This record gives sequence, C-alpha cells and structure tokens, in this order.
Amino acid sequence: MAKTTARYACQQCGAVAPRWAGRCEACGAWNSMVEELPRAAPPKSLGAAGATRRGRALDFVALRGSTAGPPRQLTGIAEFDRVCGGGLVAGSAILVGGDPGIGKSTLLLQAAAALAGRGTAAAYITGEEAVEQVRLRAERLGVGDSPVRLAAASSVRDIIAALDGAGAPEFVVIDSIQTMYLDTLDSAPGTVSQVRGAAQELIGLAKRRGLVVVLVGHVTKEGLIAGPRVLEHMVDTVLYFEGERGHQFRILRAVKNRYGATDEIGVFEMSDRGLVEVPNPSALFLADRSSAETGEGDEGGGRTAGAAVFAGIEGTRPLLVEVQALVAPSPLGTPRRAVVGWDATRLAMITAVLDARCGLSVGLNDIYLNIAGGLRIVEPAADLAVAAALISALTETPVPADAVIFGEIGLSGRVRPVAHAEARLKEAAKLGFGEAWVPVRPAARGVRPSEGLKVAPVGHLSELVARLSPPRRLRAAR
Ligand code: TYD
Ligand code: MG
Repeated sequence: MAKTTARYACQQCGAVAPRWAGRCEACGAWNSMVEELPRAAPPKSLGAAGATRRGRALDFVALRGSTAGPPRQLTGIAEFDRVCGGGLVAGSAILVGGDPGIGKSTLLLQAAAALAGRGTAAAYITGEEAVEQVRLRAERLGVGDSPVRLAAASSVRDIIAALDGAGAPEFVVIDSIQTMYLDTLDSAPGTVSQVRGAAQELIGLAKRRGLVVVLVGHVTKEGLIAGPRVLEHMVDTVLYFEGERGHQFRILRAVKNRYGATDEIGVFEMSDRGLVEVPNPSALFLADRSSAETGEGDEGGGRTAGAAVFAGIEGTRPLLVEVQALVAPSPLGTPRRAVVGWDATRLAMITAVLDARCGLSVGLNDIYLNIAGGLRIVEPAADLAVAAALISALTETPVPADAVIFGEIGLSGRVRPVAHAEARLKEAAKLGFGEAWVPVRPAARGVRPSEGLKVAPVGHLSELVARLSPPRRLRAAR
C-alpha cells in the first residue's frame, strides 16, 4: 500500500517539489509553495504487465472531412462575439481573466442576459457574491427581467449535479474558478490543485453536454491568472479583460482561441449602467486629441510637442492611438523612465538607437511615455511613432496633427516595413488624416495608397530626426 506523501506545489507556476521551500526553484516566486495532497495513488502504467484491460484500436480518418465550421451562438454584443471568434461554440470552455474589479462579472452577466434574451438558456453561478448582490447589479444593468438562472454555489459536485441533466442551460458562467472546490481534494479552494481539479470537471461537463462554460479567473499582480496558469492550456479560449482602473475603457483581448483568431480585441466603456460597446475605438482613443487641437485645455492653443498618432492593428482591426512622450533633463545621476502601455525594454532600445545612430542625447534625460486611453500596445510597428514622440518632445517640434506614423526600427536605425500597411492607411484616411509617415515603399509590398492620404516614407531614423527638428533647435538640444 503506497503511503500518501505530501508534496508542495507552487501557486504561481504549478511546479511540484517534495519539500517546502521559501522560494520556488522553477519560477523564482517567493513564499508560493503550498502543501497539497496528491489526488490518489499514481496510476499503473497502461502498458505494464498485469494491466487488466486492453485499449480499443483507434479509428484513423483523413484530414479532409465534410464538417462545416462549428455553429456559433451570438450574444448580440458585437465586441464580445468578435473576440470569441465570431460567436460562442457549443461544447467549449472559455477562461476570462483579469484584475479584481475590472468588470469581469459585469461583462459576463450582460452576456448571459443577452443570450437569455435571444432564447438561449443561460445560467450564472457565483461563488464570490451573494445572490442579492448579483440581483442588484442586474437591476443596475437593466437586465433584471431577463430569464438568466442565478445561483450561489461553490461546490463543483453540486454544480455538476445541477447541470448534468435534461433541461440544463446551454451557457454557464462560473464566477470565479478560484472559489470553486472539489470535495475529493484536500487542499483549500484557490490552490493550484483545486483550481485545476475543479476546472477539469467543469470543462469535462462542457464537452460531454455541449455547453458553453465560462470560467472567471482573477489575475495576480504579476499578470498571471493566479495559480491557474495551468488552466490556459486546458480551456479552448483564453480572454483577458484589461484596462487602467482610472480610465473608463476596458479591453477584452483573446490570447488563445481554438475557434478563432488571437490578438482580437473588443473595446468597452464602463458606464454607470455597465459596459457599453465601443464600435469605433480609434475615434474614441483620439477624442481628447481633437479637443487639444481646438485649443481647449491647452496652454498655447496650438499643438503640443511630444505626441504622435500611431496607426496600429489589434487582431484584425486597425486602431489609431496617440503616443505621448515627455523628455526632461534629469536632475540626478540616474535618468528616470516611466512607461505606461508600452514595453520598457523596447523604449530603452529606441533611445539607444536615437543616441547611437542619430547623434541625439535622449538617453540622458528623464523619459515618460504614455499610450493615451489606457491601451497597451505590443506591436513593434509602434517603434516609429514612439521615436517621433520622443524626438518631438526633445526638440519641442510638434508632429503635424494630421499625420499618422508606423514602422519598426532596427538596431541600425533603418525603418522596416510592417504587416497590414494597407489597413492602417485606410483607417487613417477614414478618420481624416492627411499624411502618413511609413517605412519606405509600402507600395512594393502590394499596398495601394488610400484616397486623400499623402504617404511620406521614412527610410532611416535620422530622416525622422531631420523632419522633426529645425536646425537651430537641434543644435540647442545637443
Ligand atoms: P465587477 O464586474 O464586479 O469586476 P470583477 O468581477 O472583474 O471583479 O466590476 C466592478 C467595478 O465596475 C466596480 O468598481 C464598479 C464598476 N461598475 C460600474 O462602474 N458600472 C456598473 O454598472 C457596474 C455594474 C459596475
Ligand atoms: Mg467579480
């Protein structure tokens, strides 16, 4: 009889160790090892002598088949449907991660109500809040009368029992997976093995009964779905709900989708009546800008230096955002860097290239970089716009207000072409921009110029510096 030995699992990365340690050897997290009892005696190897049952032979089939794309259920919340890959697929499990308080419960209650309103049986199971709290929220969202079935529960056994019969709902929200527990496991709710075990049961249920199961997961401050990083490969779709607390914009981002494109985003605005879709985010992210151009809240009444509009792509959709930079002489030895919405390493690279290849001395200054509206950009295509904002801030020369910028910067200072140039130009033209600063010869890659948009190619970063610095200014800056 095998003795059940305790083991310790890291709550950050899921690594298992035989002894407790103050620091996880796998991921380096401190104080994250928690004792967990293994589920049962390890199973006997299937091929081992004495295995009681032989497996059945597999039926191999051809890759090509007559299966059409999976049928999709639409919630009618277009931003949500698009991020899910064009609607929800029956028998799939979706993980929605995000910081506490970002609006996950609000979004999913709205989605459940929208589905219920279209005749799909939907249920919302909360392990975090009381039924009354959810009712109050529903009231506030104006969906109090929708036929969503609501329950407060945290035992996975009870939930499975309720959902595994005839007349079960087709769409189920589990809010949150960290509050669920399996009574067959000894560890506390929220530990890696509980989260994994509970998710496994619920995902199994989704596959077995053809339900759509949405698991809500809280994210730790490191940006990982707390503990259950392990969940990411168990579910079909992983969506992150993100945004700055102080901003009203919320972005739902697909980071994994077995049924659709990743990197697709949906943009919402948090209002006093819940999340409102933002069908044209470019206009919204540039909204503050038009008021600056007309002179409101702007000292000079003119354009400010240090701002550049980046023509980006999020998933399949073009998105224009403003990059803002402030460059100030550093009073103390070590220059300060504060970056919001963009990669700090990438910023360090661009300042280094500006210093080494263009003869500027940006790097000695304090640099503050911000992507307006609380958006987080991951595309290297934003390099050129970031560089333009930095140069403009340093030389106090504004970037023309009707110019959009995109392009990747290499370590040599060369500007490299990026994907989807045509879609970016089209969006810029649509929003009334007149000029595009882009990598050289975008037309060579089959890009047709957009109506009314003058394309001004930038081959090397030094051309951008020349464009943004009257000679007198540049000398002063040096
Ligand atoms: P919630 O959905 O509870 O967040 P999560 O489930 O991700 O923890 O959203 C909480 C925040 O949203 C809270 O700070 C209040 C705000 N909120 C609104 O601004 N308007 C609303 O209509 C609702 C329901 C919430
Ligand atoms: Mg919640």
